[in-house]
Amino acid sequence: MSATIIDGKAFAASVREKVATHVARLKEVNDITPGLAVVLVGEDPASQVYVRSKGKQTVEVGMNSYEHKLDDDTSEEDLLALIDKLNNDPAVHGILVQLPLPDHLNEDLVINAIDPAKDVDGFHISNVGLLGTGQKSMVPCTPLGCLMMLRDHHGSLSGLNAVVVGRSNIVGKPMANLLLRDSCTVTIAHSRTKDIEAVCRQADILVAAVGRPQMVTGDWVKPGATVIDVGINRIPAPEKGEGKTRLVGDCDFDSCAEVAGAITPVPGGVGPMTIACLLANTLTACCRANALPEPEGLTA
Ligand code: GUN
Repeated sequence: MSATIIDGKAFAASVREKVATHVARLKEVNDITPGLAVVLVGEDPASQVYVRSKGKQTVEVGMNSYEHKLDDDTSEEDLLALIDKLNNDPAVHGILVQLPLPDHLNEDLVINAIDPAKDVDGFHISNVGLLGTGQKSMVPCTPLGCLMMLRDHHGSLSGLNAVVVGRSNIVGKPMANLLLRDSCTVTIAHSRTKDIEAVCRQADILVAAVGRPQMVTGDWVKPGATVIDVGINRIPAPEKGEGKTRLVGDCDFDSCAEVAGAITPVPGGVGPMTIACLLANTLTACCRANALPEPEGLTA
């Protein structure tokens, strides 16, 4: 293996530390404590784990955490009433509605009911439009985390060829917009892309966000390229015992690491950065709401 491992766990810890320092100063100088409200509808076990983790880390950086757990059969009307209440609560600077929502709730309607200034997920259509036109917005947490790691590793990204594999609204598209804003030459590749391996081999920066375990192999990677693996896939691991599983990315780590210049591992790469960026976005939203300077190095 020749690639440098980009340590997302350590990077996320440094982001949280910066957030905590800024939060402490906000309290001391301005008597303001940022607040993040997380809304969970239903009992999806994976979502419960995420929400617990978000609440814990929010408190650890000195922010207020408000958790709203609603029943599986909560009506759209009741959910929208809660969002309206949070929109109008001055102690709440960020609102996150955990996805996926139960089938009877319209996700687009719910997300677009959040005040765009409090939309720390960056999923509101206004924020999507602002990012797409290169204006100040709230930026989705996972692509923001990827961008922070890329800027840290490369310094300037200007003129680099970036290929994003995957065209989701949550990762692929915002990632491509962020890379374009940093003056990369950007290609979005997807399931219908012709000769996707050859397209990927052009990339100085290769971001894999497709949700297919170990799809990207070393022969897709340009020697020396930086590989950012957004995938988190659980696969059977019979070598660990019957019924056991393990986490892998969208990249085949071993073969990619032979060729890449730098690579994020799974777990311990992009994953930890997502919640760290959620905290960074909440701080940014709080600063903007109070017309205070934004934290340096924590925004796009
Ligand atoms: N479910 C899984 N990841 C996310 C996320 O980043 N934001 C929201 N709102 N829900 C999620």
